[in-house]
Amino acid sequence: MICRARAPAKVILFGEHWVVHGGRALASAIGLYSSVYAEPLREGVIVESRNLGVMEDVLKSCRVFCNLKRSFEYIANGVMWPARIVVNSEIPVGAGLGSSAAVAVSASAAYACVGGRDVTPELVSNAAYESEKLVHGTPSGVDNTVSAFGGFLLYRRGEGFKAIHVGSLNDVTLLVIDTGVIRSTAKAVSLFSSRLKRLNSIGQDLLRLAEGIVEEALRAVRKGDAVMLGELMDVAHGLLNAMGVSHIELEKAVHAARANGALGAKLTGAGMGGSAIALVEKERAAAVAENLRRLGFRVYSGALGVRGVSITALE
Ligand code: PMV
Repeated sequence: MICRARAPAKVILFGEHWVVHGGRALASAIGLYSSVYAEPLREGVIVESRNLGVMEDVLKSCRVFCNLKRSFEYIANGVMWPARIVVNSEIPVGAGLGSSAAVAVSASAAYACVGGRDVTPELVSNAAYESEKLVHGTPSGVDNTVSAFGGFLLYRRGEGFKAIHVGSLNDVTLLVIDTGVIRSTAKAVSLFSSRLKRLNSIGQDLLRLAEGIVEEALRAVRKGDAVMLGELMDVAHGLLNAMGVSHIELEKAVHAARANGALGAKLTGAGMGGSAIALVEKERAAAVAENLRRLGFRVYSGALGVRGVSITALE
């Protein structure tokens, strides 16, 4: 069987950092994809990445794709079957969009399909989580879950994930504005956490406010109220900025997006660099993205809440 699979990237819309302290976070699948082609072979499990220009037989030894090998082992649950796996991803790496998880989800799905296995989002999400543990240590599992199941997902540490069924958000696009500033998630989490502690009751008040924002955002997502969602993004960004995890380049990005007519904008993920996101009406998206590019940012765009992993068996 020859198979193609593709899986979307994820973006944290609301609740980053607060989620480390017991709050909830709302994430969404975004229409930027990792695509994988897989075909049977006589021997070997050969992984090729068009983006990296790397090819290796992970059955013999692995250097770059040991994480994917772990996912394939999970899928095979015994002796791995031979296959050629070709990865082609349009998701920027290191921009907080869960590119490694989307690659692992799509590669796991294609590998399972080539082996004639029943491919479910649950199976490939679990397989990709094995890969993510090698890449990130102790990941929350958000990236692989969103990529496999798609849509919007609410999560709280220790409680797992809840799918959110939504109204239409068809008229808007999400722009991801990559500042190119390298950040450390661990450093940002530690800075945020120590400020939260120092702020005592004020910190607890802010945490409650952040929870309120997630609650309102859920309502807006369910109603398909993009204007409200944009406004809440602005407020959420203000709180993250107050907690010290913004960056001058992130401020430039969110202010420029708003000045160009975005419905709202905020940092996404750890902050202190990395990416901002802006919610923009579809017909304005190209012009807003172009203006942001002129300021030196790399800009990607995709629909929100897209479906998760999909598989096509070609023969
Ligand atoms: O920037 P990212 O994709 O590493 O996201 C970090 C999200 C935090 O809430 C800041 C940390 C976490 O583990 O949830």
